[in-house]
Amino acid sequence: MKALILSGGSGTRLRPFSYSMPKQLIPIANKPVLEYVLENVRDLGVREVGVIVGDRAPDIADVIGDGARFGLRVTYLPQDRPLGLAHCVTLARSFLGDDDFVMYLGDNMLPDGVGEIAAEFRALRPAAQVVVRRVADPRAFGVVELDERGAVRRLVEKPRRPRSDLAMLGVYFFTAAIHEAVAAIEPSPRGELEITDAVQWLLGHGAEVRASEYAGYWKDTGQAEDVLACNRHMLAGLRPAVGGEVDAASWVEGQVVIEPGARVVRSRIEGPAIIGAGTVVEDSYVGPYTSIGDDCTLRRTHLADSIVLRGALISEVSGLLGSLIGRSAVVGPASPGEASHCMVVGDHTRVEIAALGARPPTLAATATSAAMAGI
Ligand code: DAU
Repeated sequence: MKALILSGGSGTRLRPFSYSMPKQLIPIANKPVLEYVLENVRDLGVREVGVIVGDRAPDIADVIGDGARFGLRVTYLPQDRPLGLAHCVTLARSFLGDDDFVMYLGDNMLPDGVGEIAAEFRALRPAAQVVVRRVADPRAFGVVELDERGAVRRLVEKPRRPRSDLAMLGVYFFTAAIHEAVAAIEPSPRGELEITDAVQWLLGHGAEVRASEYAGYWKDTGQAEDVLACNRHMLAGLRPAVGGEVDAASWVEGQVVIEPGARVVRSRIEGPAIIGAGTVVEDSYVGPYTSIGDDCTLRRTHLADSIVLRGALISEVSGLLGSLIGRSAVVGPASPGEASHCMVVGDHTRVEIAALGARPPTLAATATSAAMAGI
């Protein structure tokens, strides 16, 4: 079996991050989503991987290279424009040949793996096997309707009025039968060749389509809130390891990873949290569910339930909660004596500041309850 990983697309819902980096490289617990995807694919016994890339191809290649680090052989398949998931299959036609393959969306996190479903597909080899789970609001997903015997009756992409609560996750197993289907369908009203329509085409032409319910953790990391929720989930399973320096005036509690080369000075770190290599945390509080990337600096800052990307500098800020801070961003106080706020805020950025007169949050309690609600 081969794999086709989709890492193109525009990522408009993850702006402003997707302006400067592909959304598949957003770090969760300091590791890009795409790396989790590659590891999952490798765990299925796959070795040959085609990766669909858009205009951010060089960033993706910088991180995953030829795949050898993951025990994989990666072939890059450029896509000029995000014309749809089924369009990606047509682009990969010669890479895939007539082999069975798993198609995996590069922004989907399924950390518990899909090994059992892959085994079922390998044993039964239906034309298509989709992975589903029940969700409260399926309108943002492909939706699968089953008949009374549990067989797939219909698949609809992002229906306005869903007739089932079974959402399709970003993992699909196909035999070569899918190639005829992707060639036969027309673009959807949003102008994309939908893989959901291709699977529906197979069903309508008498092919076997199976749906397997996935019971593990799943997140489509397409939006900031989902990235934070997924970060909380992954950090909850963190194995503590202190490789960096923690001075005698600091206090580290719970599941905390401090990477080699990081320094914690006169600070309190309350896990689960991870501090990246080369990062300096001084006179600060890092609360639960926080990932700080490599080479960041935190000074006199209190934050929790947040993700800080590589190279950011945060100083003299308290009460940062549920925040995503981008690469090399600078967040800090105004000049001495200045009572106003000064912001250089990029397109589609969101800034939420405590209302005038609001009481500062007690970070530890807020972070814990936010996390419990979101996991
Ligand atoms: O997350 C599950 C959902 O993923 C399914 O329920 C839907 O049926 C399926 O259509 C898909 O919906 P999204 O709207 O979330 O897809 P998105 O546009 O975010 O693209 C998913 C991944 O595929 C993402 O990593 C970007 C990549 N992609 C997307 C398109 C449209 C490409 O590489 N090329 C493309 O042309």
